[in-house]
Amino acid sequence: MLSPSTRKIISATVPVLEQHGTTITSVFYKNMLSEHEELKNIFNRTNQVQGGQPTALATTVLAAAKNIDQLEALLPHVKQIGHKHRALQIKPEHYPIVGKHLLGAIKQVLGDAATPEVLNAWGEAYGAIADIFIGVEKQLYSAEGWNGWKQFEVVAREPQTSSITKMTVKPTQESGLQVETLSFTPGQYITIKTHPTNHNNKYDALRHYSICSSSSRYGLKFAFKKEVTGGHEGLVSTYLHDSIKVGDVISLSAPAGDFALDKTLIKQDTVPLVLLSSGVGATPILSMLEQQIESNAQRPIAWIQSSFNEANRPFASQVEKLLAKCANATAYITNTESMPRISSQYLSDKITKGSDIYICGSVQFMQDMLQSVRQLGIEEQSIHYEPFGPKMATVSV
Ligand SMILES: Cc1cc2nc3c(=O)[nH]c(=O)nc-3n(C[C@H](O)[C@H](O)[C@H](O)COP(=O)(O)OP(=O)(O)OC[C@H]3O[C@@H](n4cnc5c(N)ncnc54)[C@H](O)[C@@H]3O)c2cc1C
Ligand code: HEM
Repeated sequence: MLSPSTRKIISATVPVLEQHGTTITSVFYKNMLSEHEELKNIFNRTNQVQGGQPTALATTVLAAAKNIDQLEALLPHVKQIGHKHRALQIKPEHYPIVGKHLLGAIKQVLGDAATPEVLNAWGEAYGAIADIFIGVEKQLYSAEGWNGWKQFEVVAREPQTSSITKMTVKPTQESGLQVETLSFTPGQYITIKTHPTNHNNKYDALRHYSICSSSSRYGLKFAFKKEVTGGHEGLVSTYLHDSIKVGDVISLSAPAGDFALDKTLIKQDTVPLVLLSSGVGATPILSMLEQQIESNAQRPIAWIQSSFNEANRPFASQVEKLLAKCANATAYITNTESMPRISSQYLSDKITKGSDIYICGSVQFMQDMLQSVRQLGIEEQSIHYEPFGPKMATVSV
């Protein structure tokens, strides 16, 4: 429990630190990664260059500090971040390193205003926040499907579009895992540890990929899009797309994430299910569709899928076959060539009040869709989503 005087200091300094969020973040990462080169094997290298996602960590600490009187309000976010940390194999011993460099960055930014009292207060606050994360992550580690990184062999590659490939992997004999006993909840992702040699890369690179089937009967299936932005190729997706072949071995950590169908609603037929995705964001949504149909094909379903154009729509024939098994499902297929952004007006006659909604796609798509479904007056507890990027970018705390 933090003392009232500590809280007072934190509250007084949060606004000025928030103003300098970008400086704090860049000082923090630069210093931490130059002192701990080994962490370059964990943190996303492209984010370091672009300065995108790294802001998530520092800004979340600031957000937590802002809510220092009611840290329990942050618990749902901590759980979601904790899943990512567990998937990346972040351990309690990493927290003091982050704490030291975050405090160092605060000191540098505040300059003379960083009195010993201020730094002590921030040290205490970081400790309290880190303890919450470590506690949540301890529970996630104790429930993880397997410990650490295990080797899987690529047994199939199936192109879905010119840039999206579905991959099936099975545990190697040395991993000690059996394919029949791999368990996950549809909507979850696996995390891949690769060591790409493209882009002059020297470090391990970790990335999350959503599982795109509802069972592991024939292996774990996921699909990735070769990302290219303004001529810049994504590090891992390009490596997977261009260099990883059937028979190659990759390392995975156990399935993670809390994006999952509401179990209490799967068996009933009165709450319609809305599955809304864009591009490769259809992966976890497809897994959920399979799960719903296996459990109850009577439930009303609206499948809303956006892609660049029809040629770039992943899983098209698979979705068609699955929806044909449903008593009451409708597919709404749009493309960004003719409709760049799905509006609330477009959704208004497709999403009935009282529906349970699952959304997946890029952070930008998520921000747009959250705005659109909220405009329809859908209750917050019925909106579930997984951005293919930092989730904190889509919430306000
Ligand atoms: C929970 C979760 C689930 C996910 N599931 C999936 C999934 O099922 N399928 C899937 O395909 N992806 C998924 N992702 C995204 C995936 O984890 C990777 O982020 C994605 O594959 C890009 O990784 P990369 O290494 O190829 O790109 P990075 O190297 O990390 O680059 C990120 C982006 O920046 C661009 N870029 C690189 N360098 C520059 C530069 N200098 N200037 C401008 N832009 C640049 C790249 O083109 C790319 O678009 C998921 C993400 C999360 C968080
Ligand atoms: C209290 C301390 C911490 C907070 C508040 C925090 C917060 C966050 C947040 C918000 C994200 C983005 C999650 C998302 O994608 O939705 C994230 C990702 C990540 N965190 Fe943490 N984190 C903390 C500690 C740590 C520690 C100790 C490490 C390891 C040294 C770490 C490593 C990472 C990595 C590697 C990512 C993925 C993003 C990237 O590669 O750049 N975090 N963290």
